[in-house]
Amino acid sequence: MRIGPYRFDDPVFLAPMAGITDKPFRMLCRTLGAGHAISEMVGSRPELRDSAKSRSRIDHRGERGPVHVQIAGSDPDQMADAARYNVDLGADLIDINMGCPAKKVCSKLAGSSLLRDEALVAAILERVAHAVSVPVTLKTRTGWDADCRNIVSVGRIAESVGIAAITLHGRTRNDFYHGSAEHDSLRRLRDAVSLPLVANGDIRSAGEARAVLAQTGADAVMIGRAARSRPWLPGRIAAVLAGRDDPGEPEPIRKRDILRRLVAAQHAFYGEERGVRMARKHIGWQLEAFAPGAEERRIILKAAHAREQLALLDEFFERRIQLSQAA
Ligand SMILES: Cc1cc2nc3c(=O)[nH]c(=O)nc-3n(C[C@H](O)[C@H](O)[C@H](O)COP(=O)(O)O)c2cc1C
Repeated sequence: MRIGPYRFDDPVFLAPMAGITDKPFRMLCRTLGAGHAISEMVGSRPELRDSAKSRSRIDHRGERGPVHVQIAGSDPDQMADAARYNVDLGADLIDINMGCPAKKVCSKLAGSSLLRDEALVAAILERVAHAVSVPVTLKTRTGWDADCRNIVSVGRIAESVGIAAITLHGRTRNDFYHGSAEHDSLRRLRDAVSLPLVANGDIRSAGEARAVLAQTGADAVMIGRAARSRPWLPGRIAAVLAGRDDPGEPEPIRKRDILRRLVAAQHAFYGEERGVRMARKHIGWQLEAFAPGAEERRIILKAAHAREQLALLDEFFERRIQLSQAA
């Protein structure tokens, strides 16, 4: 698959997820074989650029390219400005968020609420695509609600103003994350536009990825929530789709090493206090597979210092590894 000058040999992308797919997590997933990763959304309002959150989101030093930065907002000029700003900071690709269902984002008429106003969609896409010399992609949902599934119309607008690729999450905004993602809309979009398309929503295995690609004619798949607890999953799916050996689920020792590496990277990236806090949710998700007891979990999640957090993780895994070896 290609987007502009960039070729993606493994068409399995890590989804942008605010608060989850930060630089340490993206770098980990890429190392484990994900074909590409898009940054968490950054707001387009210039007054927010200096917050600690924005500063960490725009830091791409050392990240394997192409660096793909997602921007969110509703003012076409502000979005164009945000695109230029992020390209100046090193973005190789810009992604426009028209998929976020969060009330905080939609109440400011951004994210997926933009889908209700096609004239505004056109203005944003056109202004951003013309503001920068790098490829601009769009990530969106199928529409606002069941009565307004206008993805084909939005796709045609995107193609006509020079958008380079579309990622489609097969739900409307009003679906939030309820029910199952549908992929028929992607098939309709595939038949209507010739842009590279990325299928997203509820893809959790190589079998599902293969079925969605076959059903929709999409060029790539994007994995979100399923990678939260299994950062190796996009790489595993990529290996199977490419006909390489399925690396399978990592052994507990390898899982420990992967989680340790992420946690240490978060300590280094955010500094001790924030790093320990950011690492907690990843620890929670990745330990779920080991069914930790409530007290065991509480003790690990309570760790307040970097060394303590890592030491508790080591102890946890030591117990699990001994159990699995004894079994
Ligand atoms: C906690 C969370 C944060 C998300 N943040 C973003 C975001 O910043 N930008 C975006 O386009 N989508 C965001 N999404 C949506 C995902 O990229 C993806 O479209 C959605 O989760 C469906 O894919 P999945 O079923 O594989 O998870 C977020 C989803 C979750 C669960």
